[in-house]
Amino acid sequence: MNILISNDHAGVELKNAVNNFLKENGYVVENLGDNSGKSVDYPDIIHPLAKEISNNKDKKGIIMCGTGNGVSMVANKYKGVRAGLCWSKEIAELIRKHNDANILSLPARFISIKEALEIVEVFLETSFEGGRHERRVNKINKQ
Ligand code: RB5
Repeated sequence: MNILISNDHAGVELKNAVNNFLKENGYVVENLGDNSGKSVDYPDIIHPLAKEISNNKDKKGIIMCGTGNGVSMVANKYKGVRAGLCWSKEIAELIRKHNDANILSLPARFISIKEALEIVEVFLETSFEGGRHERRVNKINKQ
């Protein structure tokens, strides 16, 4: 599976850990985020990733900023993108099972790298349940 990752300056350390973890586990990773740690505007580094996920139903994304909120807000402007903010494995499981999230958003300043990698693993290994959840997901987009 192809995974796109992106982050602002607050997420560089976490992004590097996620990138290594994904590659070690056989994923093909495309890194679209900041690598420098110099201040960047989170919308600028998320628009290209969100556009790509919106156009490719088979791809998933992992995005990171200080709180995970700014990057989610940008990503969720795109049709077909469902970015879920996660700070626990249980939430990661539910955003896949119930919301068919195709982007995982991580709050880099509020979780440890160990917690984040456990969340990433659950996010990538959990399937959408469909059924009544599919009906609800189909009602998300307004157009
Ligand atoms: C950067 O300081 C911070 O505002 C950003 O990483 C993010 O948390 C925004 O939502």
